[in-house]
Amino acid sequence: MIESDFENRIVSTTFGSEDGEIEDSLRPRRMEDYIGQEKAKENLKVFIEAAKGRGESLDHCLLYGPPGLGKTTLAGIIANEMGVNLRITSGPAIEKPGDLASLITNLQPGDVLFIDEIHRLSRAVEEVLYPAMEDYAVDIIIGKGPSARSIRLDLPRFTLIGATTRAGQISAPLRDRFGVLSRLELYEPEELRDIVVRSAGILGIPVEPEGAMEIAKRSRGTPRIVNRLLKRVRDYAEVKGNGIITREVADYALQALEIDALGLDSIDRRMLESIIRNFGGGPVGLETLAATIGEEAITLEDVYEPYLLQIGFLSRTPRGRMVTPNAYQHLGLKPMMQNAAEQIRFQE
Ligand code: ADE
Repeated sequence: MIESDFENRIVSTTFGSEDGEIEDSLRPRRMEDYIGQEKAKENLKVFIEAAKGRGESLDHCLLYGPPGLGKTTLAGIIANEMGVNLRITSGPAIEKPGDLASLITNLQPGDVLFIDEIHRLSRAVEEVLYPAMEDYAVDIIIGKGPSARSIRLDLPRFTLIGATTRAGQISAPLRDRFGVLSRLELYEPEELRDIVVRSAGILGIPVEPEGAMEIAKRSRGTPRIVNRLLKRVRDYAEVKGNGIITREVADYALQALEIDALGLDSIDRRMLESIIRNFGGGPVGLETLAATIGEEAITLEDVYEPYLLQIGFLSRTPRGRMVTPNAYQHLGLKPMMQNAAEQIRFQE
């Protein structure tokens, strides 16, 4: 398979092989060390304390939001705070109902089963999950044909934590079986700065507060990106500077990596410029746009759009995506006349 630009971009939110190791050492293990996501954290703390107080397992939780925001990390913290094991798998990894059955019949009481990309479970696998989540039981068919019979195995009480970037794609019966639904939001620059300072401390990288803030502002609201950029900026600090990450070194490094002042890379700019040049600034349908820039619509929606929407460069309208005047300004382009009426609506 040909690797796309998307997979190679330094601000990609997909997991790289290098990320696995750094993410593990940088992952907070306790709620008090987890920066940001205050709403989700406060609620989860209450649910954890209450479940522990009653001596029960935690209700099933669905974590949703853009990639790279720490869903796996939160699952690890929940398991740690509950004092149980964490088993990690993903929707695409569970191919057959039997795969899931063998996973859940091997859980210890109270264990957390984390299923990433849970929206990608097949219908047949989902069917196994329903009685498991609701009744802590799994129905196993023994034999074939007329003599086949089903036996019900009891499971220990466990907690399923599902993670998804696409809550809308989860079937209603599955969604309804989660007792806790928690939406994770993109991080504010100040929160990301605190994550840079924490990660730099763990990795022994000297960083000035302004240097940390510069990396934070250019990380698209995403801890996975901030930690990756921190490592790359350290390389520049060591080779081109005196090893200390100052604002100047961070700026130099990020410019060299073609990440602009707001964290946009060449692909973000290509997307915005394509809407402007090919579609007069929009509105343009997601599928049409995706075909024009050679990316999948799902990738645009999950990975590119959340940040562009958050910084107010893109707007979703019933007729498609539109570029806002702020984006024109950032790209050094003039809004086109044919969209004057819509531009004015944006400014109001
Ligand atoms: N590293 C990655 N995500 C983090 C978070 N939310 N808090 C602290 N450190 C992190």
